[in-house]
Amino acid sequence: MAQLRTPSLMLLTPLILTLLVVQPTSALVASARRGQDRRLNGVGPREQQSGLSQEQCQALCSQYNCGSFNYHPATGGCEVLSPTACESYGLYVVRSTGWRWFDVVSDLTTESSQVLWQREACVRDGRCRDSCLRRLGENCRHSDQCQPLVTGGTQCASWTCQCDADHWQFNETLCLPRNQQLFTEGTFWVWKKIVNGLCSTQFDLKASKGVTIVLAEAYTHYSNRYVFELTPTYLYGNRILEGVTNSRYASVAVSMLSSDTFRTLGMSWCSGQMRFWESGGPYRISWNDGSAFNPTHMAIYSADSEGRWRFPERLVDPWFGDWSTERIYSIPRDTFISRRRHEQDFWVEFECRITRDCFWQARQEVYWNHGNILRAAFGGWDNTASAVQRHITGVGWSTHNYTETPGILSATEFRKFRVHFSPQAVSMYRGDETEPFVSHKLDPPITINYDGPQMCCNVENIEYKLAKYDSGWSYEGGFRWGEDLVPE
Ligand SMILES: *[C@@H]1O[C@H](CO)[C@@H](O)[C@H](O)[C@H]1NC(C)=O
Ligand SMILES: *[C@@H]1O[C@H](CO)[C@@H](O)[C@H](O)[C@H]1NC(C)=O
Repeated sequence: MAQLRTPSLMLLTPLILTLLVVQPTSALVASARRGQDRRLNGVGPREQQSGLSQEQCQALCSQYNCGSFNYHPATGGCEVLSPTACESYGLYVVRSTGWRWFDVVSDLTTESSQVLWQREACVRDGRCRDSCLRRLGENCRHSDQCQPLVTGGTQCASWTCQCDADHWQFNETLCLPRNQQLFTEGTFWVWKKIVNGLCSTQFDLKASKGVTIVLAEAYTHYSNRYVFELTPTYLYGNRILEGVTNSRYASVAVSMLSSDTFRTLGMSWCSGQMRFWESGGPYRISWNDGSAFNPTHMAIYSADSEGRWRFPERLVDPWFGDWSTERIYSIPRDTFISRRRHEQDFWVEFECRITRDCFWQARQEVYWNHGNILRAAFGGWDNTASAVQRHITGVGWSTHNYTETPGILSATEFRKFRVHFSPQAVSMYRGDETEPFVSHKLDPPITINYDGPQMCCNVENIEYKLAKYDSGWSYEGGFRWGEDLVPE
């Protein structure tokens, strides 16, 4: 065995000499601080002797360029081991009275600052080094090894770091929660980006009147897309080649919606093989597209009623992954990215880039349903004017303090605005100006429970900068499109 190692030792010689010069006292530091009454199992010793002192065992170990050794002080038993505990998930440190397991460490003084030092993986199992840390998909023996490098619920299962049962794997270091409830409010769309190759999913849906699910090739209503439409009595499948053809390939008399219980539905679109079913039931749609689209985004909508949706995994907000405060929220037509609002007197600040219609909406109800709504409309009327618009339940829309503001918006430049909402008034400001250019007294006042940017009806997406002015719009601040809108 020693002969086999000779060539590699010769190659290493210059390196070893250098190390000896730098650190002449000892080439080997052995620590048994986590190895009392323990030994490393799962690997045969490279060399085994008895009647040695601890120093002799350590010296023997160092001849083999070892990773660790088991030593038994009463008998002088010495087992030299090539690896140390974390080199393979097949190695494990066990209780063994009278033995000590020595880990070869580079520096005793930094040993206790290792991430795992106080955790069970180290204290009990000898997996202490920072090199014991693992990402998702890598072999492990203890969940502690997975947690420091991974965000979100993770565990070591089947000797592999995985997301736990409540999470799905986005990438090697991120587990995201499963089955987050999304809410559609009756008139606007919620968009998600499809990730990690999702093309088949079973999801829960509670909705009464009708829902539409779009699977689009791009993040816009104007791209090639598949559309599943569910009414209380029918299921339709449509294929839309943008600007060319709109064909309905399936029309099935079936009722899959319920307003009081979640129903589990399934759909898949892998390579254009369109399927739709209710969990446990037959395919209601089974149709193969000869020239398949490759959807990258999903949009969901519930017609004139609330929709609650729970998708298990592999959908994220379209801007997911950009963690900068400068990130741009691009939103397609007919969307409102609302969030809950608890204060009644507050400022919003944002920038937008669009040819016309940069709106901020504030509402009493989460449901559309034509409730009490306020809208600060910048650059409406084809970018000629701005105003406060108000909807009162049972009365309808009215426009207040219509003010000519030609060219207030730009298609190429971000323009900054601020709005002050209070129970008494809404005031609209340009940039950092101290005086509003439009304001409107609220009589009667409305209670605001939701607010956010709203995109009206342009073909191109509107772009907002939000997180720059309000960290409540960031993931860290808890914002996810369509989530947390209604209490359970
Ligand atoms: C995983 O994705 C998150 C979110 O985009 C990112 O911050 C992180 O760096 C990614 N991890 C890896 C290993 O790429
Ligand atoms: C319209 O807004 C301007 C600017 O805030 C304000 O001075 C004016 O009083 C408002 N007019 C009405 C009718 O509210």
